[in-house]
Amino acid sequence: MSSGARSHTAPPPEGRKPVTLPRLAEMKAAGEPIAMVTAYDYPSARVAEEAGADVVLVGDSAAMVVLGHPGTEAVSMEEMIVLGKAVRRGLKTPLMIGDMPMGSYEASNELAIGNAQRLVKETGCQTVKLEAGGVSVERARAIVRSGIPVMGHVGLTPQTATALGGYKAQGKTAQSAIQLCEDALALQAVGCFAIVFEAVPAAVTEAIVEKLEIPTIGIGAGPATAGQVLVFHDLLGITTGRMAKFVKQYAHVHDEMVGGVRQYVAEVRTRHFPEPDHVYGIEPAELAELRRYLEQESLTSAKAWDWEPLS
Ligand code: KIV
Repeated sequence: MSSGARSHTAPPPEGRKPVTLPRLAEMKAAGEPIAMVTAYDYPSARVAEEAGADVVLVGDSAAMVVLGHPGTEAVSMEEMIVLGKAVRRGLKTPLMIGDMPMGSYEASNELAIGNAQRLVKETGCQTVKLEAGGVSVERARAIVRSGIPVMGHVGLTPQTATALGGYKAQGKTAQSAIQLCEDALALQAVGCFAIVFEAVPAAVTEAIVEKLEIPTIGIGAGPATAGQVLVFHDLLGITTGRMAKFVKQYAHVHDEMVGGVRQYVAEVRTRHFPEPDHVYGIEPAELAELRRYLEQESLTSAKAWDWEPLS
């Protein structure tokens, strides 16, 4: 890296331009689907980069899929920053979004701006995401006014899942769909550049996105959104157990990983690993000299109590 101005972002791979906010708006206008995925560390960011994702979210879903908590509430700003920094090192092209964890923005505009700035300054993400309507609309407005682009998130908002009655589809009654529409319109009005729709009936999404100008990104919200997002560990089958209805698994990486580690353990136990290909060599003359040294009488008869501890 040059000694001049340091950038968090390495130049994108040959022929690919970094994804910007105008590019997302252009994609939406052209009907070109936006592919978004989560990432939480350097390897997952490298995978998202090489697979050609347009947008990468360092999601607070990390609490569940990386840190093993039962919900997203537990993850802290400090943890999100560690994960975000690692993701930044692996990304060149996609737009990077830092998720604001529960407790990092709800209490006041000052808190929200301060934590959004921390995510941008410390991880190098270009934008942030926060959840829900209501007071979050005011927080989104404040963050946007401070100069940081914000993505909204409506429908099933995991940080407030308990209040929503659990991890279940939202907007299934006309009244709740209207509320969802009002939240989305309010988030757009305060300047959000895009909105995630999570676990919303496809027909409700389709009806509402027509009223929105900004791109919408769906997760369990049907095909009408401008883009789709899935959690990295879910789509690759790193997560095990019961999946949400909207998850499509494109691979079974957990099984592959268990298989690989199981074989390694077996080969260690049977001494089939390491093989000759995995060991370093030494010139015979050097080895002979080492052996001569080791065979000295004084060395082989040395006892532990011959050694004086350093004072
Ligand atoms: O945290 C997350 O992964 C998310 C996506 C599901 C949109 O918010």
